[in-house]
Amino acid sequence: MKVGIIGFGVVGKKRYASILENTSYTVDAISENNSLARKDIPENIEIFEDYQLLIDSAKVDIVFISLPNKFAAEATVLSLKKGLHVFCEKPPAKTLAELNAVKAISAMCPDLKLMYGFNHRFHNSVEEAKSIIQNNTFGNLINMRGVYGKSQMINFNQDDWRTRREDSGGGILLDQGIHMLDLMRYLSGESFTQIFSFIDNAFWNFDVEDNAYVLMKSSRGIVAQLHSSATQWRHLFNLEITMEKGSLVLGGILTGSKSYGEETLTIITADPSNDRGAPHEAISKFNKDVSWDNEIKYFADCLVNNFAIKRGSIDDAIETMKLIEAIYKADPIWKKKYYT
Ligand SMILES: NC(=O)c1ccc[n+]([C@@H]2O[C@H](COP(=O)([O-])OP(=O)(O)OC[C@H]3O[C@@H](n4cnc5c(N)ncnc54)[C@H](O)[C@@H]3O)[C@@H](O)[C@H]2O)c1
Repeated sequence: MKVGIIGFGVVGKKRYASILENTSYTVDAISENNSLARKDIPENIEIFEDYQLLIDSAKVDIVFISLPNKFAAEATVLSLKKGLHVFCEKPPAKTLAELNAVKAISAMCPDLKLMYGFNHRFHNSVEEAKSIIQNNTFGNLINMRGVYGKSQMINFNQDDWRTRREDSGGGILLDQGIHMLDLMRYLSGESFTQIFSFIDNAFWNFDVEDNAYVLMKSSRGIVAQLHSSATQWRHLFNLEITMEKGSLVLGGILTGSKSYGEETLTIITADPSNDRGAPHEAISKFNKDVSWDNEIKYFADCLVNNFAIKRGSIDDAIETMKLIEAIYKADPIWKKKYYT
């Protein structure tokens, strides 16, 4: 299989290394419209300036799309129409409407794989939490409480497309909070139907949110709270999952910046009558971020065995985008400003 990488920024480069390390694929084409970034493209790879040119004429079987959000849906649609398998980074689109159009095209291409990069699902701590919840070790779920925050909208001296609504579609919730929402959906298996929120852009003052405060309830009564923030001066990833007989805490996560602390999973066994609120805890620490490599291996495995994509599918992407838009619209002021 021959691969084309579309957008050779921070993530495009990460995917390039991971594809070479974990698959038998060759990377034959890269599209990058910034002349400085093009200098980083390794030799013997065909270079296309605009992504549409690569999709149109590169001789590849798969494309990895790591472009600014505003191009994600269109690049996916064009690639599927061209008969290419697609791996696209989150967010899958700027809006749910754009993503619905992708879904319609992908439904017409049953032989092509389409996967979205929700790499947090592939962290070891998350995999272990998922299996504990699935095994029903601590009984039914009661609630989830997550915080995911960073100290600004842009890292790594990147272009500032993330701060412009027309280019990004949304702020910190769509950019980073989307991972926490995806994890909440993935780990609980719940569909959240009642949603309350406050959406704010008062600190950084861009036309995208810098804080989203969210309270949600599923039809089965599971409650989830999320704070997604771009004013979290000390970077933080924390997700508490409370069940009837214990709880799990995903604390810290290994990322490129290493600023979210050590990746740990704390398993708390509740015995409220005897432990006086200081229960038995077992902490596992994970030292390696395997998420990017394991995600690519999963995608390659689905391709070679012709398995359906079950982690990061178009349906996952649609459900998470539905949730995001419902969250934006649950704040009456934000709704009035951007959705009427
Ligand atoms: N899974 C994750 O945790 C994760 C992490 C970071 C970013 N992402 C996602 O990956 C995508 C890319 O993010 P990034 O941080 O690499 O951004 P980036 O700005 O570093 O990279 C985007 C690249 O696309 C190039 N580009 C822009 N327009 C182009 C065009 N018309 N044709 C060809 N190239 C073009 C830019 O020059 C840039 O090099 C975003 O959707 C982002 O949300 C995912």
